[in-house]
Amino acid sequence: MEKREIALSTPNLNADIVENLKECIEEGWISTSGRFIGEFEEKVSSYIGMEDAVACQSGTAGLHTALRILDVGAGDAVLVPTLTFIAAVNPVRYQGAEPIFLDCDKGFCLDPVKLRQFCAAECRLEDGRLIHNKTGRTIKAIIPVHIFGNLSDMEAIMEIAQDYSLKVIEDATEALGSFWIDGAFAGQHAGTVGHIGVFSFNANKIITTGGGGMIVSPDSDILRQARYLTTTAKDDGLFFAHNEVGYNYRMLNIQAALGVSQIDELPDFIQTKIANYWLYWEFLSETPGIRLLPFRPGTRPNHWFYALYVDDLPESAPGETRNRLMARLIEEGIQCRPVWKLNHTQTPYVNCTNYLIEQAEDYEKHILNLPCSTNLVEADVRYICEKLQKALASLSATSVL
Ligand SMILES: Cc1ncc(COP(=O)(O)O)c(C=O)c1O
Repeated sequence: MEKREIALSTPNLNADIVENLKECIEEGWISTSGRFIGEFEEKVSSYIGMEDAVACQSGTAGLHTALRILDVGAGDAVLVPTLTFIAAVNPVRYQGAEPIFLDCDKGFCLDPVKLRQFCAAECRLEDGRLIHNKTGRTIKAIIPVHIFGNLSDMEAIMEIAQDYSLKVIEDATEALGSFWIDGAFAGQHAGTVGHIGVFSFNANKIITTGGGGMIVSPDSDILRQARYLTTTAKDDGLFFAHNEVGYNYRMLNIQAALGVSQIDELPDFIQTKIANYWLYWEFLSETPGIRLLPFRPGTRPNHWFYALYVDDLPESAPGETRNRLMARLIEEGIQCRPVWKLNHTQTPYVNCTNYLIEQAEDYEKHILNLPCSTNLVEADVRYICEKLQKALASLSATSVL
């Protein structure tokens, strides 16, 4: 079999995009004004069933703006998962606050049981504020992240937030198009349940604007503030009066031009992600030593990223088998990757509080993300699975010898 190169996740761009970009260039609307920005906001908000949305430069910019709006600052702390891309955490520090790292549940997302336990055992409520006993910081918010498009247990998280006076910023950067089927939030989309939700349109996301983000909220005042802060807090457009320190975080018209054509394809992209996920499932279900991890029941996830759990071969150190398998696949031209290094172990955050991290450590060592681009066809998935099975068989053989 000829060696092929298969990327982990590539953007899937259609011909329409060129037309939209051409319009921006020909008419000169390439910056923070132009018709595509409003159109993209309208399309995203109506897709997820919200009144309005604010388009910004990136998911990171959206999260930063959200924390600023919720008045998170020096002396405060924010509860975050350790198992997530670091961009979900960094904006806490941009605001001069400290992250407190929590574990994930089996579904990769913030563990609500440990979250409640942490609030009850490690903190106290004082005048309606949650104070972290050890550091004396006021905990203002929780950032649940819908990892790989899998939904966090938002029913439990929202209850805890209510009980402990916390605001909730949903990091829905990976979860555009995921929604609940059952329970209190049936029919609601990722990002629409918390006080603020944030999406990303980075190139590896389910739809892309090259780079970009979107802020949503059921509270129109929050969105008004988001629009104001992301456009340098300009109070007078003629005399350039600014009454607050804002940011240059507005999405560009050329980014939105990409988004407008991409969002029409989202339902098809999700169908492809789902179909390919089940192909992996079918091709790998009989292979011992590995299993494709499921998404949360009672939801319709967008199946953005696929996570394979790789067991340790006998007598291998934890994670060694996953690493060797990954190296073999990369050698074969199949791009795959481990889940992120846990944030509580990252250099800027080693001194922060972390609480009972166990499941995330297990996932850090054993998860392998497999190629999941929406342009993969059945033959590609079959090819990847065959290579994977072959590599695993050869590792098992060497391990027995
Ligand atoms: C979980 C998570 N949070 C935040 C971000 C930041 O989004 P962006 O790259 O658009 O800044 C990303 C993705 O890049 C992400 O995966």
